Amino acid sequence: MELRDAVALVTGGSAGIGRAIAEALKAEGARVTITGRDRGRLEGASGALGVAAIQADVGREEDARRTVADVVARHGRLDLLVNNAGIGHFAPLVETELARLEEVYRTNVYGAFLMGREAARQFVKQRSGHLVNISSTAGTKGFQGGTVYASSKFALRGMTECWREELRRSNVRVMLVNPSEVLTGFGGKSPPDHPRKLRPKEIADAIVGALKVDDRGFLPEFSVFATNPF
Ligand SMILES: NC(=O)c1ccc[n+]([C@@H]2O[C@H](COP(=O)([O-])OP(=O)(O)OC[C@H]3O[C@@H](n4cnc5c(N)ncnc54)[C@H](OP(=O)(O)O)[C@@H]3O)[C@@H](O)[C@H]2O)c1
Repeated sequence: MELRDAVALVTGGSAGIGRAIAEALKAEGARVTITGRDRGRLEGASGALGVAAIQADVGREEDARRTVADVVARHGRLDLLVNNAGIGHFAPLVETELARLEEVYRTNVYGAFLMGREAARQFVKQRSGHLVNISSTAGTKGFQGGTVYASSKFALRGMTECWREELRRSNVRVMLVNPSEVLTGFGGKSPPDHPRKLRPKEIADAIVGALKVDDRGFLPEFSVFATNPF
């Protein structure tokens, strides 16, 4: 796709991987809007990056509708949705409360569904569009303590496969990206810098590269690993 002047929406663009994706898209000349729940963090990122912002929770249906409608009202179309907003919870099965599962699914599964559906409605109308779902290597293989998070990303992977087959008939490319561990504030952590671990920039660069492939083809799914994080 041509990123110059493309209308792009990045959920959870106020921090971490989403913020780096927004920055990289803006550097390519895209017209970028980011979302997030925390107004202060959202306005900070929006000001620093020079991108538009909409305060919204992806897990609330009215917010998802409003977000896509606002972008389309402002730009007349939507070319790219990056479904990035996500949260985690890690605990053994026997210690896992239903409320934690519901909370993570509300953002990672229902939120991705709601944003994906609203964007897809616009893409089908336009007969064009690009949708990038940010999953995780946790969505390809289970692990101890991963009941909540890994299963939410397995669900995202399942939805992605369905959307890909449905939407390619409307010229829409649906991609799944599986980062392994990335140095962000994910899960409330603040990891020390590590020269060999992944930064949000590596994920953003990989996505920009994939998006730049001519619309005739696309990368249905790819993972991003740190070369030597040990
Ligand atoms: N970091 C990793 O190691 C890693 C690895 C693989 C995959 N991932 C995936 O990458 C994505 C981004 O993670 P990250 O590491 O960048 O996390 P992060 O630094 O915690 O940033 C998450 C972003 O999502 C927003 N967000 C969270 N819940 C939201 C909601 N319900 N509605 C709207 N925005 C919401 C946050 O802002 P507010 O809190 O203000 O809403 C923030 O902007 C997630 O899907 C995560 O699962 C991360």
